[in-house]
Amino acid sequence: MRIILTGPKGTGKSTLGAKLAELLGAPFLETDHHIEHLYASFHGHGGKKTCREIYRAEGEKVFRELERRAVFDLATRDWCLISTGGATMLDCDVRRALCENSCVVLLKADEDLLWKRIAAAGIPPFLEGDDGPRKNRERNATIYEAIARNADLIFTVTDENEARAHELLADELSSWFMLKMCSPSTFGEIIRTTTFGESHGKALGAVLDGVRPGVDLSEADIQAELDRRRPGQSKVTTQRSESDRVEILSGVFEGKTTGSPICMIVYNRDQDSSKYETLRDVFRPGHADFTFWKKYGIRDHRGGGRSSGRETAGRVASGAAAKKILASRGVQVTAFAQEIAGVAGVKEDLTIIENNPVRAADPDMAHDMERAVIEARKHKDSVGGVVKLLIRNVPAGIGDPVFFKLDARLAMAMFSIGAVKGVEIGAGFSAARMKGSENNDAMAAGSFLSNNAGGILGGISTGEEIVLRVAVKPTPSIELPQKTIDTGGAARTISIEGRHDPCIVPRVIPVIEAMAALVILDAMEIQERMK
Ligand SMILES: Cc1cc2nc3c(=O)[nH]c(=O)nc-3n(C[C@H](O)[C@H](O)[C@H](O)COP(=O)(O)O)c2cc1C
Repeated sequence: MRIILTGPKGTGKSTLGAKLAELLGAPFLETDHHIEHLYASFHGHGGKKTCREIYRAEGEKVFRELERRAVFDLATRDWCLISTGGATMLDCDVRRALCENSCVVLLKADEDLLWKRIAAAGIPPFLEGDDGPRKNRERNATIYEAIARNADLIFTVTDENEARAHELLADELSSWFMLKMCSPSTFGEIIRTTTFGESHGKALGAVLDGVRPGVDLSEADIQAELDRRRPGQSKVTTQRSESDRVEILSGVFEGKTTGSPICMIVYNRDQDSSKYETLRDVFRPGHADFTFWKKYGIRDHRGGGRSSGRETAGRVASGAAAKKILASRGVQVTAFAQEIAGVAGVKEDLTIIENNPVRAADPDMAHDMERAVIEARKHKDSVGGVVKLLIRNVPAGIGDPVFFKLDARLAMAMFSIGAVKGVEIGAGFSAARMKGSENNDAMAAGSFLSNNAGGILGGISTGEEIVLRVAVKPTPSIELPQKTIDTGGAARTISIEGRHDPCIVPRVIPVIEAMAALVILDAMEIQERMK
């Protein structure tokens, strides 16, 4: 990322650029200096000339060619501030090279002020003559027209703000960078997924980018995973009967991915927003109503809008594609309910997970877990639980220290799911109570003798099974009366009617698998490119 400072003659690019670069601690590069440097390097000692002298001596054609070369040289530099003339940016190849991966700042100023400054500095050859001011105005209009649509920031320089222009611009740049770096609905580096939509909006879905071309992918592949997440499947999930039919809008041709973004959409069909009318100005305890209101000052109260569990439909759609690709590489991602309402499973029979409503892996405890959920619903309450996630056959060496450690990325992925309140990797919190001699996974004959590390050491996969435990809180929306306040701060009591999951665990399982699959596939793609 670099900053390009451009604009017509007289906007003070050099002075402002130098001060701004110093303030930002970035190297300052000027195309004019680079042109002079290139010219000197071609002509030896006799070639030491200013841009104006080069222009006069060599003519426009040679000068513009030199200018192109200078720009293409500078365009290879990262993190720096490049000041370049507005006229240089009229060449569309130059513009493309400079604008890529840059923040382009267009400087503007009043025409009279610009001409005053040009006259003071000495009128350049192409503006000489009585009609200089008119020629300059026309030239500037062309510059503005060409650059404005590529500019990220437009800053107007005046006599009054000149002394502080670098500070004002630094403030604007920092806001721009903050927003640029922040894409809170997009996840992943190479395998990037962006989810969109609200609970009671027209549709939800995801755009999945970075998938290689030629992968077999159909709506049926995505639908199978969405059906696992879909509400209304049993007595332990919400009775909303959302059909959640997925349509692939792009990125797949004749059953194969094309390498373009894959857009998957699920239209909302069973949305009864009238039930939410009483919640328009009331905050549901345990839900995100209060915080969304504080942050955005506006809130879609219908089903929680973006904070609804329905947002996860898009994640599951993208995750379905990731799971399919991983499966073709032998990697399996499986999650199940290990504990619900304090009823814990011990056995781990992965073949029974989809055969019981709570998605438990212990055939002896599944029924008790189910009963605990039904009991909670009967009492107009809800319960939480623990989901265990197993990722098998991930090769050793996946994960990118330091900030993209595999465990860090998995934890972030899990915590991005609503209602997730804790993540343990391997022995997790119990490692805090072990001795080193107990916790360390000894090695023999090329592998590990135990797996307290949960398949990750130093943020990199060990080749052992990756094991996570995810704590899921009880569903916030309950029918029992609760104290709360409204947007005016007045005390209210609410009882949330409507169709809510008495326990989120069974439906969050496909979401957990989806997010894990996206992390692992992304990390594997990063590793592929590192080789
Ligand atoms: C799959 C899924 C389904 C959910 N269903 C409900 C629900 O029916 N009712 C509800 O109040 N919360 C539900 N939630 C939880 C809320 O979205 C979540 O608790 C809320 O956004 C507050 O965020 P936090 O719990 O992460 O702090 C669900 C979450 C997920 C992931």
